[in-house]
Amino acid sequence: MTKQIQPIRGMNDVLPSEIGVWQYLESSAREILAAYGYEEIRVPIVEHTDLFKRAIGEFTDVVEKEMYTFTDQGGDSLTLRPEATAGIVRAVISNGLLRGSRLKLWCAGPMFRHERPQKGRYRQFNQIDVEAIGFAGPDVDAELIALTARLWKKLGIERVRLQINSLGTPESRRVYREHLVNYFRQHESRLDADSRRRLESNPLRILDSKNPEMREIVAGAPLLTEHLDPESRAHFDTLCVMLRDVGVEFEVNPRLVRGLDYYTRTVFEWITDALGAQDAVCSGGRYDGLIAQLGGEPTPAIGFAMGVERVVELLVQAGRAPARQAPDVYVVVSGELATKQGVVLTERLRDALPHRRIELNLGGGNFKTQFRRADRSGARLALIIGDDELGRGMVALKPLREESGQSECPIAEVASRIEAMLADGRR
Ligand code: HAM
Repeated sequence: MTKQIQPIRGMNDVLPSEIGVWQYLESSAREILAAYGYEEIRVPIVEHTDLFKRAIGEFTDVVEKEMYTFTDQGGDSLTLRPEATAGIVRAVISNGLLRGSRLKLWCAGPMFRHERPQKGRYRQFNQIDVEAIGFAGPDVDAELIALTARLWKKLGIERVRLQINSLGTPESRRVYREHLVNYFRQHESRLDADSRRRLESNPLRILDSKNPEMREIVAGAPLLTEHLDPESRAHFDTLCVMLRDVGVEFEVNPRLVRGLDYYTRTVFEWITDALGAQDAVCSGGRYDGLIAQLGGEPTPAIGFAMGVERVVELLVQAGRAPARQAPDVYVVVSGELATKQGVVLTERLRDALPHRRIELNLGGGNFKTQFRRADRSGARLALIIGDDELGRGMVALKPLREESGQSECPIAEVASRIEAMLADGRR
């Protein structure tokens, strides 16, 4: 037998049996985003590698180890997007959308990171990404976070909690970085290899170390919050007040640093204890320097992205996955003429009842087989088209979900009869 082609590790199919919960999440998010005035933008999945290096930072895990980078036939180095913010900012600049205007944008789709796959961590994963560009905050910071809280409420997700922090300005971060490097140098012999490497390139990321042996050293490290500049401090304090006033609960986590370099001031993360090690379901922050860094007018901005697979898993765990939708009507055909007429009559019925789900039995089968399929489909009604009845201008209808007999009806009246039977519950 020919050897089967294997799927790529960490890249998943979303099957029809699973898609309902994805669509539920997507439509709920779409509704809330529209209500807050966010507009959808779609940007390419592939960008110049340089974009991500410049935006995310050369010394981040994402750029150093996780990017799917290749050279195309024209010799350009291209990368499958590991996140959406860089591409959206690039699109805003390339299309001249900035020019003093303010933008509220969102985008959904797959991202690619060559991480070690495990539950909740994939190499192709989906994000719903939201960006507010041209707003200095902290009002927009508070509103954006309130939007995420509203989404959890709408979806019925309870096992999430919000952590926030401020990373200050690049200057205050530079000062803090020096303090941090001094501290870690004093404990260099106790640092693991990864942290020693980061000491030169990206010492803030040591605070994020997942190695339990690093916990004690990290716990003693100086805090960024102790070195915040006054403006960032005021920004953060106001954000906290606003969140309290709108009733969004949060914890300040002074060690929340995030894995991408473009953040300034506010950062936040919704975490859960329901997904094991992969606890972040939605994270983001302010990136006031990024747009200028990519060649645009200096423009403040903030955004976040949620991991769709992780939120889907929370929904499944909470029993919020919607049931598969059954057809309203299953059309059974019996006889040669009926089989020929079946497609035509069913199309006419779909014209008459565009909001109804009507499934036609395809590929033949005897009466019993077709009824078994009708039953399995979950349909409420069977429409039976038979040669004999057709000769008299009639078809038959049979409720499938209750003990009730079959009744005949003239072809011309079938749409209204179906509608009446479905509408008043006489299934
Ligand atoms: P991020 O924290 O790298 O931020 O990713 C956002 C979310 O994507 C995470 O909280 C997580 O739920 C999900 N995620 C990340 N990696 C994986 C993975 N390998 N498998 C499954 N889910 C994953 C960003 O990407 C920023 N661009 C967010 C942002 C937008 N900041 C400002 N604007």
